[in-house]
Amino acid sequence: MATEQRNQAEDGGVATAAGDTLTVTDNRTGESYELEISDGTIRAMDLRQIKVSEDDFGLMAYDPAFTNTASCRSAITYIDGEAGILQHRGIPIEQLCEHASYLEVAYLLIFGELPTQPQLDRWVFDVTHHTFVHENIKKFVEGFRYDAHPMGMLLASVGALSTFYPDAKHIDDPEERYMAAIRLIAKMPTLAAFAYRHNMGLPYIYPDNELSYSENFLSMLFKMTETKFEPDPRLARALDILFILHADHEQNCSTNAVRGVGSSQVDPYSAVAAGVAALYGPLHGGANEAVLRMLRRIEKTENIPDFLERVKGREERLMGFGHRVYKNYDPRARIIKKHVDEVLEATGHNPLLEIAVELEKHALDDEYFTSRKLYPNVDFYSGLIYEALRIPAEMFTVIFAIPRTSGWVSQWMEMNDDSEQKIARPRQVYVGDRDRDYVAIDDREGPEKITGPPARRPARPRRGA
Ligand code: CMC
Repeated sequence: MATEQRNQAEDGGVATAAGDTLTVTDNRTGESYELEISDGTIRAMDLRQIKVSEDDFGLMAYDPAFTNTASCRSAITYIDGEAGILQHRGIPIEQLCEHASYLEVAYLLIFGELPTQPQLDRWVFDVTHHTFVHENIKKFVEGFRYDAHPMGMLLASVGALSTFYPDAKHIDDPEERYMAAIRLIAKMPTLAAFAYRHNMGLPYIYPDNELSYSENFLSMLFKMTETKFEPDPRLARALDILFILHADHEQNCSTNAVRGVGSSQVDPYSAVAAGVAALYGPLHGGANEAVLRMLRRIEKTENIPDFLERVKGREERLMGFGHRVYKNYDPRARIIKKHVDEVLEATGHNPLLEIAVELEKHALDDEYFTSRKLYPNVDFYSGLIYEALRIPAEMFTVIFAIPRTSGWVSQWMEMNDDSEQKIARPRQVYVGDRDRDYVAIDDREGPEKITGPPARRPARPRRGA
């Protein structure tokens, strides 16, 4: 398109308004090119016309970790990282947390509008009546070792769902898509709770259709001999708010994984399993677990200055701080912080809260962190709420995955409706050898004896979320 516009202009035709283009001069050839700017972006494919010779492949953009590349157009979640703003379908996260339930937000993400009362009733009914999983899934979970990480169990069981619903591969069938959305949102808490009960050596608890989404999850985690589990409404509401806060966060690592894997047109259960895998990592959903371990390691407030010195010396990372997009206080962290006190009122004091609050104060007073715009993110305080709910740290990321499922599903649906999307397939800059000859095994040079695994590569600084 850019070539076309350039040619049109050269021919005296009407070119794009000067303000909406970028003129690039290739100093290798002296040639100038005019690239269209729309929505603050240029099309990477417009660079391809920039060549040094006819047989040159053309210029590419190099962007490891996609730090400055938009991979899609999306109308689901808006983030202004500099201002600390988060909106879903245009509605501020603060309003959603104050007035909506998690399932209402899930509907908003997927369908684009807040539901009317009949729409919400139908949606809640459908989700509630798909919370059971096939009995074979239970047997499948039973097959894991007693100490298997629950996130690994969740990852495997979400992937396994695709074998129970083979019709989900008809990804263009609206009914199949709706059912996949309902089933994924409905079954995720059941799978998560089964993984927890497996670790605890406790019998699995079936869903209770009379309870709300978050109450039912608490029931499946904690019900023992009582005939009916009665959750504390303050804890159920706090959990529902955490669910709202984790529902979607535009093109993060796991959403990108769902879109990338989903772009192969695989069924949505398999695409969402890819999201669960990406969320597992400590730089993404695993951070809340890491925050709690960090707070325990710090042990008491007196140790905070030493700990921060180690962070500055790059021996440690301040988990729960920093974000690829937010260069300001993460608005989700602000909302969670408000609810920590309410939860602790119901569950009792937690000394780790004191350490967290002091740690935040020290870090926000320190030039090292402020100059790098490192502020608390969503994970800094969420672990404290989960711990107050008596949920073990291994489960934190699993609980993150429950609400993020609605985000993954909505992004997967949006991608499938986007005519510009194709199978995701980045380019590479090849830096290896070329044109070497095969060497027969006896003629190869190397150490005589291999006594162990190859030497560990030196650790590299961790970057990217
Ligand atoms: N502790 C200490 N230094 C940090 C931290 C941190 N948590 N985060 C960033 N930095 C430093 C980093 O060393 C670098 O310094 P310098 O320029 O001197 O080398 C600078 O800040 C920029 O960091 P970066 O690594 O280029 O930033 P990024 O955008 O690639 O990484 C991040 C974002 C979230 C991976 C990173 O901030 C981090 O590792 N934070 C801790 C893990 C965490 O809390 N993750 C949860 C993210 S929110 C939930 C989610 O969306 O998944």
